[in-house]
This record gives sequence, C-alpha cells and structure tokens, in this order.
Amino acid sequence: MERIKRSPPGPFLDLAAVVSCLAMESNLPYSRYQDQIYLQGLAGKKPSLPIAVEALEDQARAKLTREAYDYVAGGAGSEDAMRANLDALKAWRIVPRMLRDVSVRRLHTEILGERMPAPILLAPIGVQGIIRSEAEAATARAAAGLGIHSILSTASSKSIEEVAQASGDGPRWFQLYWPRRPELAESLLERARRSGYSAIVLTLDTRFLGFRERDLSNAYNPFLKGQGLANYFSDPIFRSALAAPPEENPQAAILHFVENFSSPGCTWEDLELLCRQTPLPVILKGILHGDDALRGLDCGAKGFIVSNHGGRQVDAAVASLRALPDVAAAVGDQAPVLFDSGIRRGADIFKALALGAKAVLVGRPYVWGLALEGEAGVREVLLRLAADLDLTMALSGCRSLDDINMEMLLRESLPIA
Ligand code: FNR
Repeated sequence: MERIKRSPPGPFLDLAAVVSCLAMESNLPYSRYQDQIYLQGLAGKKPSLPIAVEALEDQARAKLTREAYDYVAGGAGSEDAMRANLDALKAWRIVPRMLRDVSVRRLHTEILGERMPAPILLAPIGVQGIIRSEAEAATARAAAGLGIHSILSTASSKSIEEVAQASGDGPRWFQLYWPRRPELAESLLERARRSGYSAIVLTLDTRFLGFRERDLSNAYNPFLKGQGLANYFSDPIFRSALAAPPEENPQAAILHFVENFSSPGCTWEDLELLCRQTPLPVILKGILHGDDALRGLDCGAKGFIVSNHGGRQVDAAVASLRALPDVAAAVGDQAPVLFDSGIRRGADIFKALALGAKAVLVGRPYVWGLALEGEAGVREVLLRLAADLDLTMALSGCRSLDDINMEMLLRESLPIA
C-alpha cells in the first residue's frame, strides 16, 4: 500500500504493485520474468532480443559471418540427426494436471553433491571467439551471475584460467577432449582442478570431426586458423613439445594440435586409467546406449550425458531423446544422467526430465544470445528457459522436479508435420 500511495497514478504503476505482491510468493528471479516484460511494454518498451529461439537464431545469423554461423548451426551430413533431435522432442506431449497447489515451484536440484538453482547447465561449446571477442569469459560470467553451471570446452578461445577468473565463485565443470598424449591429458586435468572446476566432462563422441557439409562447403575449420586453441597454446606440456613457442611459429603449433587433438585408439581400459588420473568426478558425454553407460560405471565414471553432440557427429544417429530412457533405465540410481541435443524451450526441458534426465545442457540457443548481446544475451537465454520451465511446470501441475515423470507425457502417434 505504502508503495502505491507514494507513486503517481497510472496503469503501469498499479500493475507494478500487483507484480511486487506476486513476487513475494517466490524468491526466484525467473518467476517474474514475463511480468517484467509486460510491465515494460506499458512504457512502450519491447525486449531487445527476439523471444522465439528461431527468431534469435535469424538475428544472430544476420550478424555473424557465413562461416561462423554455419559452424554453429550446422550438423553432420544431411543434418538428419540434428532434425531428429527436434522431432523426437516434438513427438511427446505434456498432459497437464489440474487443481494441484502450484503457488510456489522449486526448480533446484543437486548433482554429484552440487546444488543447482535449475536443472540447466551451459553445454561445452568450443571456439566461441568466432562468435564474440569476450567468448567463453562472457558465457561464464552470465552463468555465474545466475548460479548456473557452465562447462568449459577444451577447444575454447579463452584458457581454463581466464575463464575461471571470469567465473569467479560461479560453479564450473571442464570438458576434456581426450588428447593423444597422456601427459597432456594429465596437465589439462590438473589445470582444471587447480582452477576450481569441480567435475570433468569427458566427451567420447568426437574422436574425429563429423562430416559437416556446411563447413566443408565453406572450406572452414576454425582450428586450422589457430582459433579455439587457447588451452593448448597455454599448456606447459603442449608447449614443451614445440621447437618454438606458438607466438613465434603458430603453424607448427597448429600442426602439433592436429596431431594430438584426439586419441581414437583409446578404449574402455584406458578410461579406467583416466578416471584415476583426476580426483574430480568424470562424467561421460556422448552416451547413446545403456550398455556403454554400464561399462562406463565399471570404469569409474560418475555420471552420463546422453547426447549426439547436437547432430554434429554421426549423420542419422539416433535422436538423443530416443536414447535417453534406455540409458536412464540402465543406470537407474547409480549415477546422474543428464541430457542434451535439441533443448530449445521450457517444454523440452520438462520432457527430458520426464524421460529420466536429472538436468539438461543448453547448446546453440545460448550461442545466439552471445552473438547478439554477449554476457547479457547468454543471461537472457538462460532466464527465458528457466522462466519457461517454471511456467510449464506450474501450468502442468508440478511443484518440484520430483513431480515430473513419464506419467506426465503422452507419445504423439500422429506423424510429425
Ligand atoms: C558443440 N558441442 C561441443 N561439445 C563438446 O563436448 N565440446 C565442444 O567443444 C563442443 N563444441 C561445440 C561447438 C558448437 C558450435 C556446437 C553447436 C556444439 C556440443 C554441445 O556441447 C552440445 O552437445 C550440443 O550443442 C547440443 O545440441 P543443441 O541443443 O545445441 O542442438
């Protein structure tokens, strides 16, 4: 009341008072997200970024170079796996339930003893310097500001240490591309540990780059131009193998990277060794079969990310969501199962959680936010997803993530338009 009396009259301010009352129901920043947009609309202000993720991508495309846009947007071969990821999500419908008390929702969860304010993490996306100069530092700052985990790629444009500094107290994991030389793996793992990353995401699906038709048509591979190599060029073990430092002879350093980027000969036996090389929990990314997850558990893995790398590796790979229930059933409660590939909206997150994921990784959408508005753009994408999930839960009768289960979904039998 006090607030209303002191304010000049007008519809904008009345609504502001209502919203501030509503906000008392919840302490979560995203629960007021849409109220704030509507309020600003009363003052004639529209959101600076398009709301629909497709429009966000269109705007980013207009801003980026053709090569950079295609690198992010593209997938392997005919891009069938990429489309299948989206179609598999569309094939499930939510069945909202009525008259449950949803006045307060709780989106937080805990994975490997780490608290998360929402079941959302930022997927490791390499070479963000081709998108924006602040690159992974801006991404990490946006996530840290919301207490959301960001996962730094090995192939980043900013180093492990630079991103840790940008992230401050923010929660962070490090994604490892398993290099050919074990000493290099050890060095990267140790740098991540020392820099406050609390888990290792070991990506298994990228022993080679997929056959990416867009990048091939553009004859574009950013790594060959020295982009996305900050962690290698700053690594003492990597540098010690060079006759001259990368600053003096970048070509030789790039060649050394190409020769050492991956270890296609490694097998499950090597995984056991790698898991013992670090005190941090190792989470396997790129798992699409329950048996692989079980094998990973035997080798010491502590979690799994069901993912087909956004359809960038194997053309016609099984849609990531189709593989999720199988992996979740195989793992049971032995370890957390996370999901990515195709998350675009709150309903997608809801569906993945219902099918067995403990949390999801967001990929391309945040890159579009980064391209357009840097840190603020990434933050905006994260807030939208959380706000959308919050409302999807509320309107479906779910108060907490525990209420989201298979019974909330129905499989669409009609062909997808
Ligand atoms: C990726 N992804 C990825 N994954 C990883 O483990 N290390 C990496 O360096 C990268 N780099 C990368 C670059 C770009 C441009 C994209 C689009 C993706 C895969 C990423 O972590 C995630 O699995 C996908 O982005 C999920 O698919 P959607 O939701 O983006 O379609």
